[in-house]
Amino acid sequence: MSSLSERLAAQKPQPATQVASAGTRRAARVASPLPAEPATEAPADAEPTEPLVQADGESDGLARVKQRAAVALYARIGTRLNDPNLSEEQLHQLVRDELHRVVEAEQAPLTGEERQRLITEVRADVLGLGPLQKLLDDVAVTEIMVNGPDYVYVERDGKITRAPVRFTSEQHLRQIIERIVTRIGRRIDESSPMVDARLEDGSRVNAIIPPLAFTGSTLTIRKFAKDPFKVADLIRFGTLTSPMARLLEACVHGKLNIIVSGGTGTGKTTLLNVLSSFIPDRERIITIEDAVELQLQQDHIVRLESRPQNSEGKGEITIRDLVRNSLRMRPDRIVVGEVRGGETLDMLQAMNTGHDGSLSTVHANSPRDAISRLETLVLMAGMDLPLRAIREQIASAVDLIVQLDRLRDGTRRVVAVTEVVGMEGQVVTLQDVFAFDFAAGTDESGRFLGVPRPTGVRPKFSERLQDLGIRLPADAFEDRALR
Ligand SMILES: Nc1ncnc2c1ncn2[C@@H]1O[C@H](COP(=O)(O)OP(=O)(O)O)[C@@H](O)[C@H]1O
Ligand SMILES: [Mg+2]
Repeated sequence: MSSLSERLAAQKPQPATQVASAGTRRAARVASPLPAEPATEAPADAEPTEPLVQADGESDGLARVKQRAAVALYARIGTRLNDPNLSEEQLHQLVRDELHRVVEAEQAPLTGEERQRLITEVRADVLGLGPLQKLLDDVAVTEIMVNGPDYVYVERDGKITRAPVRFTSEQHLRQIIERIVTRIGRRIDESSPMVDARLEDGSRVNAIIPPLAFTGSTLTIRKFAKDPFKVADLIRFGTLTSPMARLLEACVHGKLNIIVSGGTGTGKTTLLNVLSSFIPDRERIITIEDAVELQLQQDHIVRLESRPQNSEGKGEITIRDLVRNSLRMRPDRIVVGEVRGGETLDMLQAMNTGHDGSLSTVHANSPRDAISRLETLVLMAGMDLPLRAIREQIASAVDLIVQLDRLRDGTRRVVAVTEVVGMEGQVVTLQDVFAFDFAAGTDESGRFLGVPRPTGVRPKFSERLQDLGIRLPADAFEDRALR
């Protein structure tokens, strides 16, 4: 059989150019995901300056057919691609039907397999995210980083490697980015060159474009863990010990206000999810996040997500607005994904006014640091409160701080479970209930041998738990020399 290029060369150029210009004009308005320029000018039989899809060893011929098919498809349904009235399912159906028609009209001598591949790849560009799609579909990939069209990196098992994919051009990359952001009603351009977005599966996306991103449009995608770690996983990893997990469960049942503290990527959200899973089924939970990440299994749950301002600078709904609103929603529990601003004041006030059992996370490196971070965040509410009043507010609101850290050996561990006891003079007093045993040293591979161990101190809240009828093992706070 002759090669595809030869078979195509024997073909008459299709009248794609005409359709293309109409299509691309329309496409530009709806943020076309397709490279438009080459198709408008280049005759079908000229060498395309940029093939539509990366050349995975495929012939230019197939690339050209693909490009024509994509452009023709755009001409037919371009304006409907971002039509909010179409469900994702209807859209897929429409694209499938139209694409089959377009490929028929091409009359290209394709084998069944080529045809199928053509359809899949054009669909990935039009509906999906082009070269990114297969990385997104790969469950082993946890993070995708695109530094301009030619450099795509992925994280697998905590290791970063360069992925064998690239975009055909900066423009192609830009169109994929636009596809992501327009789908959630946002815009990316000179006037708003940085956007946070979320894919339908919950993956978080940050995009920043030139001239801010000097090396080309840059995308960072943190993939959504479809199956987040459970308490048993965290025990297995050595992040928690089972006695500690039992204690934390009792604390959640006993409606203590708990703050998970840690640096970026230390596992705060994951632990918050695990702690939230301890909330009894009958309670009404309201979660408030910047981008929904928590995956609670309870039924009686309301999930709220903040909203950035739109392109006219309007319509912003902050975490703070949502915290305030949630108080009117008869919550039993308020779970705030992370406090990073003025909402801290509202959350502390809520904790102090009967909304016990609230949970949140804060970016800090130690329990003491978490307290000062909370102070700073309260100041961001702009209420001009005296420092002492803020500290009192914190001391009476927060019962427990769970500190996470990513150790030198790469493991994520709870390094302290700390009770907020009260105030002494001007200072918030803290007392560790569990502390990581760094003295145990490391094994030959550098892995820490220690575990978080009870300090032997019986926390004040243990009485409160007892009053509520929550039983703790008699030796819950005794150091039993676990290993
Ligand atoms: N205890 C843990 N052990 C190993 N990996 C973890 C642990 N907790 C979280 N991770 C992984 O670390 C990454 C960051 O977790 P995340 O909870 O989002 O951190 P943070 O909220 O602190 O930024 C995720 O990929 C998550 O699956
Ligand atoms: Mg987080």
